[in-house]
Amino acid sequence: KFKGVIFDLDGVVTDTAEYHFIAWKDLADRIGIDIDIEFNETLKGISRGESLERILVKGNKQNDYTQEEKDKLLKIKNDYYLTLLEKLTPKDVMDNIHDTLEYLKENNFKVALASASKNAPLIINKLELNEFFDIIVDPTSVKAGKPSPDIFIEGARLIGLEVNECLGVEDSEAGVTSINDANMYSIGIGSELNLKHANIVIPSTSALKNTIISVVESSLIE
Ligand code: G6P
Ligand code: MG
Repeated sequence: KFKGVIFDLDGVVTDTAEYHFIAWKDLADRIGIDIDIEFNETLKGISRGESLERILVKGNKQNDYTQEEKDKLLKIKNDYYLTLLEKLTPKDVMDNIHDTLEYLKENNFKVALASASKNAPLIINKLELNEFFDIIVDPTSVKAGKPSPDIFIEGARLIGLEVNECLGVEDSEAGVTSINDANMYSIGIGSELNLKHANIVIPSTSALKNTIISVVESSLIE
């Protein structure tokens, strides 16, 4: 039944979720807003502009900046993030991801990337994973960001599959909701506590390949 896998990027393929946090924390500090790891969980999967809005609301400063000023803040954050990406190499691909992608390619699965990040093509290039992705969804091409299902639905459309033929892999709460509402089978990477809505949760990517194999096999028996 399953013929395709649609991956999130940050926190699934590579650990850039950590870099996003470092860059947001630096920006929030500059404008006198304190954010911690726990708050950062709520930013995962959320677009750049919306993440800034949430940080401003947290500091009760949502009315303090014009759009022009917000654009400057967003540029500061992204410029810092880009300097952190400079040291990214193929060694930064998360455990078991390469094996998983190779397995999917060898077994003729369609593979898409559905990330909210405008930096996704750059990151995939740096990680030297281009050959494994049939398509990278452009997050600016869909109406609403995660947790809306749009980006996963578009991913399925672009690889020519029905949503129920696709598995989605995510590390964020917003992303799992996006997969579920797209009517796909969701694999959550991380803690059960944050990802309780996922169809299955594994603590890290180490078991991803075997998890996908067992989900695919059990769907064939049904
Ligand atoms: C991913 C990350 C978010 C990030 C968003 C936009 O969804 O999980 O933390 O804010 O992409 O990324 P960008 O690289 O475009 O700022
Ligand atoms: Mg993520």
